[in-house]
Amino acid sequence: MKRISTLLLCLFAGALWLNATPEPDEGMWLPNKIAQLNYGQMQKLGCKLTAEEIYSINHSCLKDAIFQLQSAEGSGFCTGEIVSKEGLLFTNHHCGYESITKLSTTEHNYLDNGYWAKSKEEELSCPWLRVSRVVRIDDVTDRVLKGITNETPENERAKKVGEAMKEIIEEAKKGNDYEASVEEMYKGGEYYLFVYEIFGDVRFVGAPPSSIGKFGGDTDNWMWPRHTGDFSVFRVYMSPDGKPSKEYNKDNVPYKPLHHLPISIKGVKEGDFTMIMGYPGSTERFLCSYGMKYKRDWYNPSAVNALGVKLGAMKEDMDVDDNIRLAMADTYASLANGYKLWGGEIATLKSTNAIQLKEEEEAAFQKWANANDSRKKLYGTVLDDLKSAYESYGQATEDMLLISLLLSQGSDMTMNTLQMLPLSRMFEDEKGNADQIKAFCDEFAQGVDEMYKNYYVNTDKKTFERMLNHYIKTIPAERRVSAFSDYIFKNFKGKTEEESISKFINAVYTKSIFTDKNRLNAFLAKPNKKAFDSDPLLAFAKAVYGGIMPLQMAFVGPMNKIETLERVYTQGLREFEKDRVFYPDANSTLRLTYGTVQSYAPRDGVKYKYLTYIDGIIEKENPNDPEFVVPKELKELYNKKQFGRYADETGNLPVCFLSDNDITGGNSGSPIINGKGELIGLAFDGNWEWLCSNLIFSPEMQRTINVDARYVLWVIDELYGAKNLINELDIRK
Ligand code: ARG
Repeated sequence: MKRISTLLLCLFAGALWLNATPEPDEGMWLPNKIAQLNYGQMQKLGCKLTAEEIYSINHSCLKDAIFQLQSAEGSGFCTGEIVSKEGLLFTNHHCGYESITKLSTTEHNYLDNGYWAKSKEEELSCPWLRVSRVVRIDDVTDRVLKGITNETPENERAKKVGEAMKEIIEEAKKGNDYEASVEEMYKGGEYYLFVYEIFGDVRFVGAPPSSIGKFGGDTDNWMWPRHTGDFSVFRVYMSPDGKPSKEYNKDNVPYKPLHHLPISIKGVKEGDFTMIMGYPGSTERFLCSYGMKYKRDWYNPSAVNALGVKLGAMKEDMDVDDNIRLAMADTYASLANGYKLWGGEIATLKSTNAIQLKEEEEAAFQKWANANDSRKKLYGTVLDDLKSAYESYGQATEDMLLISLLLSQGSDMTMNTLQMLPLSRMFEDEKGNADQIKAFCDEFAQGVDEMYKNYYVNTDKKTFERMLNHYIKTIPAERRVSAFSDYIFKNFKGKTEEESISKFINAVYTKSIFTDKNRLNAFLAKPNKKAFDSDPLLAFAKAVYGGIMPLQMAFVGPMNKIETLERVYTQGLREFEKDRVFYPDANSTLRLTYGTVQSYAPRDGVKYKYLTYIDGIIEKENPNDPEFVVPKELKELYNKKQFGRYADETGNLPVCFLSDNDITGGNSGSPIINGKGELIGLAFDGNWEWLCSNLIFSPEMQRTINVDARYVLWVIDELYGAKNLINELDIRK
């Protein structure tokens, strides 16, 4: 599952446990703790590797083949694994999606037609991408929490923790080229140092067409049974001297990994041991029932409804113009993915016993806390306090979220206007600051081409108008930011609010310097106060920012309170369940989850098999629905039953399979590995019936959806004849 970009978190700063031996399936475990906590049970389930072969800081091991995919700026979104001695990396198609769309044009359309580099010379540089490998993980809790107690005031605590973290990071980076970070676990109960090696030269090697890599589209997304060939292939490069390279260089050579994964085409059976190593992005397994209700009733509906408006507007234009479709494919896919996830989270919080399970645990916790004076003092009111904090948080979230989404998702240009607001102060003395103004505008001009690269003004206009209308429809007048009454409705008079908005929109798209590249360039060449002050988009952005304080205050208060209370509650739970082995919430750091190949029963009378075959692709084919088009070359081989060595014992070709591993967004592209340490597939999704999995695990209902390695290799080998890649791989039967 690709990590859903923290769309909302970027705008403002939001467990289960197991018996003495942890249960299989549940848990995203820290690899450096495996030997101590999990290894015995992994062995029982069928793991044949030694603990040292999985994680070691003394010699090469499994973890050395597991990389995180990151933006050039270093924010992680997916996982990839090294599968050859020459740095070949497998990940999901939806993880390579951004690169594939960026490299595609209507003439060279790799998104629709796929791509296979026939030689290393044909591999395509992806300067927006980098990958990182964990060198080592250290528990630094004692150092970070030194001198901190339950009584330490919040701000002092934050300061001390911050300083200690900084010091540890500096130390770890001294005398080497590594990057390092200290990560909080158990909401501040423990801290771990992660040291990373970063590779900035990553090249695109190959991918099937979307009709395979994204087969089933948004309809099948988050669903089983599944028939998606969700994989793509990249290669990591290093400097000729064997060091990681910060960026593309033609002299760089393929990376020589410490470890690469062999690939098994022996196939899987129900009950077989499986493990997945990767970089899960974020979970909230310690969330209380009040937090779950808050998500169900406030956070998710606000986000889902607003995103639905945006997606609808985008889709209309993408469907009629291929340039727009290519330009917006990546943004659309990730918003649509979040839209379906958050909607599914609401649905499962309503239809399953997830909240009830939390309530039962809270009742037991409360009883325990009340049973003794010192516990009562620490934990006696924490749940009640969480309840009231969440209650005041709901509406404040809706207010804040809607305006944030309006700014970030309404028009592509709103965020750019914010970059220009510093001019406002400089224009107070237009003559005196002339040099400063010119310097600012010259610098701004550097970014202009990038700003308009994928800008389609008509789509932007349609989206912004609908998002503005969604805002006024959802938020009653007395709760809106004052920019509506003080700016839009005052300056663009209409018979109705909708009509005012429409007039405002017309002004923005005929006059604003931002909605036309030539107007912006003309302004930057000759900046002047009059044009600045009369710009409708700038004026709107200024008005929003001028009036947002009360909304922010109403939001940040409970947010901070909840953060502290959750830390206390988490600490209490770990004391309450002394014998249980807890795992920390996902936070984009390297984790391992283990379990088995497993089917499931989604509802009464229905049992899903654990494996799908190529027949299902043919069954789902619909040439009139772009999500279900099947490439003709696939049908040809299907008709000839040309499955090569990739067929299973029935002679048929497997496509996807299920396991009960515990993963989340960010794990996308992670290898699913058998007991011998061989790749048997790539994890790529979760299932509809338990989309509240970020909040609570279910052994019965939660599954990981994997694309079978046999299908991946068949597509590369038999279907597209990329023998150069097949020859590089270490394929085992
Ligand atoms: N649900 C998957 C995840 O979160 C992404 C699947 C991408 N496929 C798609 N049809 N949008 O990682």
